[in-house]
Amino acid sequence: MDRQGKVSGVEQAIRSYYEEAQVAERLVEAVLYSVNAGGKRIRPLFFLEMVEALGQTLTQAHFQVAASVEMIHTGSLIHDDLPAMDNDDYRRGRLTNHKQFDEATAILAGDSLFLDPFGLIARADFPAEIRINLVQELSDSSGTYGMVAGQTLDMMSEGKLIDLESLQTIHANKTGKLLTFSFVAAGLVAEVSTDVLTKLRQVGELVGLAFQVRDDILDLTADFEDLGKTPQKDLLAEKSTYPALLGLVESQQFLNHTLDQVQNLLKEIAEKCPFQAKQVGQLIESLRLNG
Ligand code: IPE
Ligand code: IPE
Ligand code: MG
Ligand code: MG
Ligand code: MG
Repeated sequence: MDRQGKVSGVEQAIRSYYEEAQVAERLVEAVLYSVNAGGKRIRPLFFLEMVEALGQTLTQAHFQVAASVEMIHTGSLIHDDLPAMDNDDYRRGRLTNHKQFDEATAILAGDSLFLDPFGLIARADFPAEIRINLVQELSDSSGTYGMVAGQTLDMMSEGKLIDLESLQTIHANKTGKLLTFSFVAAGLVAEVSTDVLTKLRQVGELVGLAFQVRDDILDLTADFEDLGKTPQKDLLAEKSTYPALLGLVESQQFLNHTLDQVQNLLKEIAEKCPFQAKQVGQLIESLRLNG
C-alpha cells in the first residue's frame, strides 16, 4: 500500500472512532479540529511501514493501532501549546486548539485523545495477548514513564543551562518514547523474536532522538509556511535544545550520524528475519536536513 493510502487509512480509523452518537459534541468537534489539521503522521507511518517490512498484510486492526499513537501524539500537541506550557498560537497551520475553542475545551480534548486510544486497541482484532502488550507499551511510552515525564522535565529546564545527558533524557522521553512505540508495536503484532524486538526498540529510540533534534533545528531554521507553527519559539522560551547546547552545525551532524546508526540497525534486523527495508529506509532518509 502506498503512503497516501496509509495516511488515509489512519485518518479514517480515528474518524470512525468518533462516529458514534456523542455525549458532548463540542468535545469531539475540538478533538477532530486538531486531528483533521493534518500533520506528517510520521508515527503511524513508521508503524505501518514496519509492519509491512516484517511481511504482514495491513488490516483494519493495524490501522487502529496506528491511529492510537497518532491520537496520543495529537493530544500531546494540544497540551504542549497551552498557555501554561509553550503558549503557542498556531499548530499544523491553524490556530491552536485553545485559541480556536478555549483552554478548558483544549485540556479536555487532550484528555480524550490520551484515553480513547486504549479503548481502540482493546477493540482491535488481534489475539488478546498482543492487545495487552500493545496497551502496556502505549501506556509506558505516553505517561509517567514516557512522554508526560519528558514534558515535565522540558518545562523544568526552561531558562536553565543543562548538560547534554540531561537534554538527551528529556528528548528520549518527551518525543523518543512515543516514536519507539511505533517500532516496538510493529514487532509485537508481527510476533518477532525477542532479539529482533530489542533491535526494533533501539531503532525507535534513535529515530525518536533524531526526530526531536530535527524539530529543534527546524525551530531555528524553517519558516511558518514549512512548519505550520511559529518559528524560533525555543529561543524565546529559553528552551534546552540541541542547537542551544551544541550549535547548529554540530546538531545537524548529530542528526545525520544518528540516522546512519538507524540504517545500520535495519541491516542487522534484515540478517535476523525476513525484512523488506526499502520503504522504512526511505522514511528514515526523509528526516535528513542536509544530505
Ligand atoms: C512535533 O511533532 C512535536 C514533536 C514531538 C517534535 P511532529 O513534527 O510529528 O508534528 P506533526 O504531527 O507533523 O504536526
Ligand atoms: C513537544 O516538543 C514534544 C511533545 C511531547 C508534544 P516541542 O514543544 O518542541 O514541539 P513543538 O515544537 O511545539 O511542535
Ligand atoms: Mg514543548
Ligand atoms: Mg512546543
Ligand atoms: Mg519544537
